[in-house]
Amino acid sequence: MGRRAVSPGLPEPVPTEDGSPTLFSEEYGEHFHNLSGAALEARERYLVPCRIVELARARGRLSILDIGFGLGFNVALACEALREGAPEARVRITTLEKSPIPPALWRKLARGLLGGGTRSRGEEEITEGLATLLTAGEARLGPVEIKMRVGAAEDVIEDLEGPFDAVFLDPFSPDRNPELWTERFLGEVARKCRAGAILSTYSAAVRPRVALLRAGWRIGAGPRVGRKSSGTLATIGEVEPPIPPLTPREQRRLQRRAEEVREP
Ligand SMILES: C[S@@+](CC[C@H](N)C(=O)[O-])C[C@H]1O[C@@H](n2cnc3c(N)ncnc32)[C@H](O)[C@@H]1O
Repeated sequence: MGRRAVSPGLPEPVPTEDGSPTLFSEEYGEHFHNLSGAALEARERYLVPCRIVELARARGRLSILDIGFGLGFNVALACEALREGAPEARVRITTLEKSPIPPALWRKLARGLLGGGTRSRGEEEITEGLATLLTAGEARLGPVEIKMRVGAAEDVIEDLEGPFDAVFLDPFSPDRNPELWTERFLGEVARKCRAGAILSTYSAAVRPRVALLRAGWRIGAGPRVGRKSSGTLATIGEVEPPIPPLTPREQRRLQRRAEEVREP
């Protein structure tokens, strides 16, 4: 399902349970999103736990690092939430992607993500703003300035201008996309973040958590999203209110593994 081309060169979207579309990646053998809901995942896995609207409102500025632009849903829905919830704030989003999708494919997906024939002016602006981002590498959408760095994230990370307050860590799975789950890469991400930064990701597996811990992050549990496990939240230092802690058993197991494991 979802792997036929409906028009030449453009893959057919796969519907997820909240009605928003996703795609299947032939390269990685995985869908781009949780089939419980692509829009649900963007909001509840990334935007809400990273507290982007609250932080932008409270501080008047915010810098987000989006790792794996993919189909652009995390970025598009972050722009929508920030325009509505923190229109006065100055927000910067830096998004990393090695293979940006064609703007025509984004426009097609945006119809399913942001509404079809009855789109508001704001939804239209987000659609065209991200199409510009995909063509020109940068775009401005209301309070949000977005820059895309095309290339391998593990190569460009060192040159990025931080510090970041929030990180959406959304590669394919650790088994299929291992370079973005290494202690080394996550350590570079940590060095680009401000104290109090929050990172969210969908994986709750031990290996990525160990890599995060050894890279200097404090680890907590993320929310459950749809039928998916809790995922992981991580912070640089303390945040207030604190992120939900791991259970004492998970904490001990992680600590033990972190002391054993050495990356090659
Ligand atoms: C699961 S998808 C991201 C979904 C996306 N966040 C969204 O909202 O639609 C993962 C993305 O990471 C990209 N990617 C994988 N490895 C990468 C790497 N080493 N550097 C940069 N991008 C990479 C893939 O091309 C893919 O678009």
